[in-house]
Amino acid sequence: MIRTKGILLAALVALGGAYWWWRRHPSPCPYGLRIWVQIPRPFLTPGRLREALALSGGEQVLEIGPGTGYYTPHLASWVGDGTVEILDMQQEMLDHTMKKLERLGMGNVSPRLADAVELPYPDESVDAALMVTVFGEIPDGDAALAEIRRVLKRGGRLVIGSIAIGDPHFSSLGAVRSHAERAGLHSAGSVGPPFAYFASFQK
Ligand SMILES: C[S@@+](CC[C@H](N)C(=O)[O-])C[C@H]1O[C@@H](n2cnc3c(N)ncnc32)[C@H](O)[C@@H]1O
Repeated sequence: MIRTKGILLAALVALGGAYWWWRRHPSPCPYGLRIWVQIPRPFLTPGRLREALALSGGEQVLEIGPGTGYYTPHLASWVGDGTVEILDMQQEMLDHTMKKLERLGMGNVSPRLADAVELPYPDESVDAALMVTVFGEIPDGDAALAEIRRVLKRGGRLVIGSIAIGDPHFSSLGAVRSHAERAGLHSAGSVGPPFAYFASFQK
């Protein structure tokens, strides 16, 4: 009994240590841990994302850090004859998402392997951009926001989603708003509770 308690305590300490270390060292969620991004999320629902993004058919959307494509098929259907650019720094994530879209017969999504701090798109070419559970993984979030501002069209929207439950890279709504304002992206409301929100911004 005492031995089991000891093992449990050691496991908890190790888990807490890993969580603390990861929080201090922003880095991409490895493909090997993709199970964490595939678990259904009761708060960051596609319906709430749709409300925050306010997409119209025919728009050009940029999803930064799609992971295994939790939201991508929804985006592809919401834009109709528009296009979705997905950008990730892990090829396995892009391949996973593209296979999913292929199975669904969706052809309006293009993948790019790149870092969010150097977006391979022209100035003012995107109607809306999003990153969900990604911002806290980027060591230089301000550089990423400056790049997003550059590629957004005038009046273009950005949605940042973050969830505190189980994500060591959670960013508070207040912190995200300060970073975005500094980058010249103005707050346009949020959807969901403060611990699991989609925050909207406008250029
Ligand atoms: C936690 S996953 C989230 C995936 C998806 N957005 C979701 O909600 O399920 C974070 C994703 O962002 C990507 N990522 C992290 N930092 C990045 C960066 N600097 N540039 C591009 N992609 C990045 C990771 O490779 C990973 O696919």
